Amino acid sequence: MYNFINYHNNSKLTEKEIQKMKEYYQKARIQENYYMNLQPQKNFYNEVALGNTKNINKNIVEVMENRTSFRGTNYSPLSRMELSTILFHAMSKKNSIKKSYPSAGGVYSVYLYVIVNNVLNVPKGIYLYDSRKHSLKQFKDISHFNITTLSNSILYPDNVSAILFTSSLYIKSFIKYGERSYRFILLESGHIIQNIELLTTAVNGGGHCIGGFYDESIEKLLDLNKYEILTHGYLLYGRII
Ligand SMILES: Cc1cc2nc3c(=O)[nH]c(=O)nc-3n(C[C@H](O)[C@H](O)[C@H](O)COP(=O)(O)O)c2cc1C
Repeated sequence: MYNFINYHNNSKLTEKEIQKMKEYYQKARIQENYYMNLQPQKNFYNEVALGNTKNINKNIVEVMENRTSFRGTNYSPLSRMELSTILFHAMSKKNSIKKSYPSAGGVYSVYLYVIVNNVLNVPKGIYLYDSRKHSLKQFKDISHFNITTLSNSILYPDNVSAILFTSSLYIKSFIKYGERSYRFILLESGHIIQNIELLTTAVNGGGHCIGGFYDESIEKLLDLNKYEILTHGYLLYGRII
């Protein structure tokens, strides 16, 4: 009945699997540039430049010590600069095209969607985060959906600042790593969400991971196609008062 162990067994690394991957990769290499440049396709109609980030002069160990899931009602909306700070440092590095998280084979197949509900000076909407431009690209509004249809663990839905979801264009990882890429895209998403959680703590914000999300409603909401899969989520309540 449960396929849990099949996921694991199907992605085990063996000599035979490496050979298979090499052969597959040789064929796919011809189109590697095409695969690597793939981006989620949407009809973007608005772009919000996130601009400056806050200076955080906190010790990483102190931030890790303070990290905890937050589920409560004593919070205020995040400011644009706080959101900017979280997203920028979670995914990018200053003066570098490199990223602040690792990616198996450097393929970077994971993308971040941001559902903005209550962030000061950022219009409500559904956006894809563009880490190269540090901007939010809007492709939908949020007037026609109810946050509680996304997950059963959003306890206080009314004023949450934002809900974040990672997705993977898994083909980018699959052409290199075959079935094992399923592990890699989840791990890459986990690295990003951990960064987000630590940065949320660093700006005195509160939130928690969401693994308990209703896949199909979110796939529909984010217009994911069959080459893009949902991997993880994070609920950003806001700044803790
Ligand atoms: C992969 C993953 C999925 C999670 N999913 C949820 C969730 O759906 N709802 C929720 O309230 N918390 C979720 N959490 C948060 C955990 O419940 C929380 O981290 C755990 O209880 C430990 O508490 P702490 O984060 O305060 O240390 C998730 C955490 C992880 C790592």
